[in-house]
Amino acid sequence: MPLKIAVILGTRPEIVKMSPVIRQLEAKDIDFFVLHTGQHYSYDMDAIFFEQLGLPQPKYNIEAGSSSHAEQTATILSGVEKILLDEFPDVVLVEGDTNSVLAGALAAAKLHIKVGHIEAGLRSYDRNMPEEINRILTDHCSDYLFAPTEKAKTILLGEGIPEEKIHVTGNTIVDAVYQNLSIAQGQSNIFNILNIRPAQYFLVTLHRQENVDNRERFSSILDGLRKVAEFYHQPVIYPVHPHSRKRMSEFGLAAPGLTLIEPVDYFDFLMLESNTRLVLTDSGGIQEEACILGVRCVTLRDNTERPETLEVGANVIAGTASDDILENVRLMFEIERYWQNPFGDGRAGERIVDILTGGFDG
Ligand code: UD1
Ligand code: UDP
Repeated sequence: MPLKIAVILGTRPEIVKMSPVIRQLEAKDIDFFVLHTGQHYSYDMDAIFFEQLGLPQPKYNIEAGSSSHAEQTATILSGVEKILLDEFPDVVLVEGDTNSVLAGALAAAKLHIKVGHIEAGLRSYDRNMPEEINRILTDHCSDYLFAPTEKAKTILLGEGIPEEKIHVTGNTIVDAVYQNLSIAQGQSNIFNILNIRPAQYFLVTLHRQENVDNRERFSSILDGLRKVAEFYHQPVIYPVHPHSRKRMSEFGLAAPGLTLIEPVDYFDFLMLESNTRLVLTDSGGIQEEACILGVRCVTLRDNTERPETLEVGANVIAGTASDDILENVRLMFEIERYWQNPFGDGRAGERIVDILTGGFDG
């Protein structure tokens, strides 16, 4: 029987980061299907990425939508189980640390279907973050742990995961950046739309639960960003994640001095990110992308599961106090910075698919 793979995804970063794997599966003519959990569903968080990246439409969409952690995870868990019982793939692939990832992996593991976790071995060591719980549990029920770096592999070994399950592949986000940057350069019109010029603005993203669900923290970060805009006399562009938009309205928070826009598509985001003076973010993927693109990053959190970005000097942890945010931006400009991208050569998708096809004995 030929190998059959289920690709499970559900949120914006999973669609972007899984796209190189899906392209490889298509190129190698492997039997696979895409199962969308529906965790993200707004057009600009979901369908636009399938269209822009030319991805096949999901064969299934569980349409889990938004709810509490338990409810969302449970809906996905039972929805995935039904589909897996019907399809019985040999391997389920998940990537990252969302509720979709944990629920997809768990449903498969309980059916004794092999689980491949892409982006295994990341740790923030902060169990208050839902993502940290999701990462740990997913790693520990996986059969193939695709670690992006040697550091991630070391972490997994330290937790007792057998070495033969771990494969250092690089991160598929490098593949995604390399595959799309020049297309974005040809197609995006975002500078004209926003009336800004390259290297003359700052770019922000902010959506982590621990930041935006806490009025005080969210407000302090917005104040820090205003200080950056005032100090440098340059626009601070903030494509607002729907989660953050909802909280801003509930908390009655304004964002004076900032340019708030709707989430943008991947090509526009790559253009904004590769040409900004500096990125300020609490996103995991954007810490990596900025590092790959040679752009300085200030992380609006107290920790990171991407320590490679700190080690090469591409990123700094600023926390969320408003003065610290400005201070860390200034610090990042103090010296010239050059670094090598630590996340791989852009062939992670190819390696992952080769490992799966080579290792298959069914
Ligand atoms: C989720 C992930 C987070 C990841 C992020 C990527 C978990 C626990 N969180 O956070 O790790 O970094 O995705 O962007 O899995 N909403 C919409 N439209 C959508 C999706 C969400 O309006 O398409 C709004 C809803 O108000 C919803 C809120 O955003 O209640 C939060 O959505 P949810 O999927 O629970 O978490 P994210 O913040 O998106
Ligand atoms: N992204 C995008 N448009 C935006 C913001 C982000 O296309 O307005 C892309 C970005 O290039 C990256 C991914 O979304 O590839 C990161 O997703 P997000 O920050 O939502 O999730 P995280 O990485 O924090 O889990």
